[in-house]
Amino acid sequence: MTIIVTGGAGFIGSNFIFHMLEKYQDYRIICLDKLTYAGNLSTLKNIMNNRNFRFVKADICDREAVYKLFEEEHPDVVVNFAAESHVDRSIENPEVFLKTNILGTQTLMDACRKYGVVRYHQVSTDEVYGDLPLDRPDLFFTETTPIHTSSPYSASKASADLLVLAYYRTYGLPITISRCSNNYGPYHFPEKLIPLMIANALNDKPLPVYGTGENIRDWLYVEDHCKAIDLIIHKGTVGEVYNIGGHNEMSNIDIVKLICKELGKPESLITYVTDRKGHDMRYAIDPTKIHNELGWLPETKFSEGIKKTIQWYLENTEWWETIISGEYKNYYDKMYHNR
Ligand code: NAD
Ligand code: DAU
Repeated sequence: MTIIVTGGAGFIGSNFIFHMLEKYQDYRIICLDKLTYAGNLSTLKNIMNNRNFRFVKADICDREAVYKLFEEEHPDVVVNFAAESHVDRSIENPEVFLKTNILGTQTLMDACRKYGVVRYHQVSTDEVYGDLPLDRPDLFFTETTPIHTSSPYSASKASADLLVLAYYRTYGLPITISRCSNNYGPYHFPEKLIPLMIANALNDKPLPVYGTGENIRDWLYVEDHCKAIDLIIHKGTVGEVYNIGGHNEMSNIDIVKLICKELGKPESLITYVTDRKGHDMRYAIDPTKIHNELGWLPETKFSEGIKKTIQWYLENTEWWETIISGEYKNYYDKMYHNR
């Protein structure tokens, strides 16, 4: 089995590659990644010499490069993680989100049609469903919840999902789609809530909470997401969408307070800042379908997962300090200075 994993130098894609190389020692895994600001080759350094692994630097929008790779490798499966993934950046500059997340998806699927694959899997997000009100804890996203996006990021991901479903219906491309809730764990880029708060707290810097901090996210340890995608590409039904989430809702402010407690830092570091535009209030996944059809259940409780994650950031300071001391400084100043 040969699998092309796009976006494998990013957070979830890299964790997925580690999971697959360890579990399936006869699979060939090719990582195709453009190495944008979010892609990091040092993340993959321990597997660079693995004979079942190959890294290719390319843009998923580059048709020539993508077709060349398909000609060389004849993949059986493509798992598309490559995306612009940060909501705040999409609010500042939507264009690259539309290019990568929509046109890149189209290019990959065209290659799949031209060369033939057993499966094209699109890694999507619960954000395509919009948000839920805080005062209706009985409501959850199911696979039939209408698409109702809020940010340029979620609109681009929803557009890609619609295109994937269109390629299934029109061309019979064997696709599956997964829509997951917020992930956390090792190699999470420090622009996102949990790693940003860990890094800032360790550096005794202010912890910028948007708005009132009451917004709720449904957190899933990244390894559980990877295991769900593994199940879907092997056992999922072609043409289907699967929601992935572990009923682990937490408000942002509770997460930030927990990080302070775990690191022994004072809550006085918490600073309330201007809210995100169009900020979604609550995400909550109903994972009944993937549980009933594929037997998936999350294995890592948040109380354990957050400890493991904090420990990882404590033991891998070089990984994130290199990031936050580079170009990221300009991003941080632009987004947070006088906010
Ligand atoms: P990330 O930003 O950490 O990584 C994205 C990777 O894609 C990077 O390695 C980057 O270099 C690469 N990339 C970007 N543009 C590319 C292009 N044009 N061509 C090739 N490579 C390109 O993202 P992540 O958090 O790991 O998310 C991965 C996927 O999972 C995304 O599709 C995202 O929408 C989805 N998702 C993320 C979460 C989450 O909580 N992080 C939850 C649900 C779904
Ligand atoms: O739900 C899945 C989505 O989760 C993925 O599709 C996205 O790719 C991923 O980035 C994530 O989106 P969010 O916007 O939920 O994640 P983020 O870490 O950016 O923010 C989480 C919450 O924390 C959100 O309510 C905004 C808030 N926040 C974030 C940052 C970076 C703050 O209060 N302060 C911050 O500095």
